[in-house]
Amino acid sequence: MTEKIRWGIIGTGMIARTFAKNLTDSTYGVKQAVGSRDLTKAQAFATENGIAKAHGSYEALYGDPTVDAVYVATPHPCHHQPVMAALAAGKHVLCEKPLGVTERECREMVAAANEAGMTLLEAFMYRVHPQTQLIQQVLGEGRIGRVCTIRSSFCYGLGDAYNVRTDLSLRGGGLYDVGCYCINFSRMAAGREPDDITAVWTLGEETRVDENLAAALHFPNGIVALFDVGVRSAGGVSAEILGTDGSLFIPKPWSPNSKHAEIELRLKGKPAEMLTVKDGGVSFQLEADHFAQVVAGDCEPLIPATNAIGNAVVMDKIWHRMHSG
Ligand SMILES: NC(=O)c1ccc[n+]([C@@H]2O[C@H](COP(=O)([O-])OP(=O)(O)OC[C@H]3O[C@@H](n4cnc5c(N)ncnc54)[C@H](OP(=O)(O)O)[C@@H]3O)[C@@H](O)[C@H]2O)c1
Repeated sequence: MTEKIRWGIIGTGMIARTFAKNLTDSTYGVKQAVGSRDLTKAQAFATENGIAKAHGSYEALYGDPTVDAVYVATPHPCHHQPVMAALAAGKHVLCEKPLGVTERECREMVAAANEAGMTLLEAFMYRVHPQTQLIQQVLGEGRIGRVCTIRSSFCYGLGDAYNVRTDLSLRGGGLYDVGCYCINFSRMAAGREPDDITAVWTLGEETRVDENLAAALHFPNGIVALFDVGVRSAGGVSAEILGTDGSLFIPKPWSPNSKHAEIELRLKGKPAEMLTVKDGGVSFQLEADHFAQVVAGDCEPLIPATNAIGNAVVMDKIWHRMHSG
């Protein structure tokens, strides 16, 4: 790879800021421009993050010839439009999770990227961290035997102030925000798409979004996955894969430690063994650099955009059950 990717960032919210900060240390990328619906916000974001160009509309950013790739960091139902527009303008796109809120949205985006010959990836950064590759390796080698059950959890606590995560019109709630991780993880560990989905939930009295939700997925190979997500708890994050010969416990599945990531292998009749990833890296930098390498043709995507379709199917089914009255 010779040229660095020149990034344009869409949106000036929380994760856009984190991405911009982490791009500073990227090997294969530079911060080039930011686009906001409000020029004043774009200018403030550019100043804060050392970005040369600020655009007062997303369209202006797609039209910027000095931008090679666009990072889309808008709320969940606001991904499809900018992704389609950026691809049509000849930009590569890294889109925040979940790529789309429905199967149809995801299929349209994947088709548009193929047609335009541009790279499109969903920003599931935990998938590019070496900890996740280690999990896949342990499963692939059959070290815990045949996988039977997968458990995962992603819960956190929101304050009372307005947040896109509690806005029903923006598909707020735990399902789309963090359930997407658990579903993605379950599908990865099961190696299949689920054939049955069950869920229970509590909608917030005021927000009407799922504030606590638990779900079970059944896979055609007999594997069952259980997960729970929430936006009102003090915290709770972990994953575990149970097999016929042992299990794998992952204390930090979604944001592995950059210096010292650990997972615990518990084999029947043996003492638990900690498997360690030393200096695995910062997930956002790994994600940006992996994206650049895919664009350059130096490697295949660790998780292709088509993978988002399976997640959208599950989330959209549960969402419709929750909100069908
Ligand atoms: N990978 C991760 O670890 C991670 C963590 C958090 C969030 N995320 C994902 O990142 C995306 C954005 O989340 P966030 O926490 O950054 O949200 P946020 O702080 O609310 O920012 C969203 C930004 O999107 C733009 N936007 C466009 N249409 C909007 C609308 N109708 N309402 C509100 N904002 C709108 C706004 O930028 P302008 O006003 O400047 O246009 C806003 O600043 C989501 O898909 C979320 O799931 C990923």
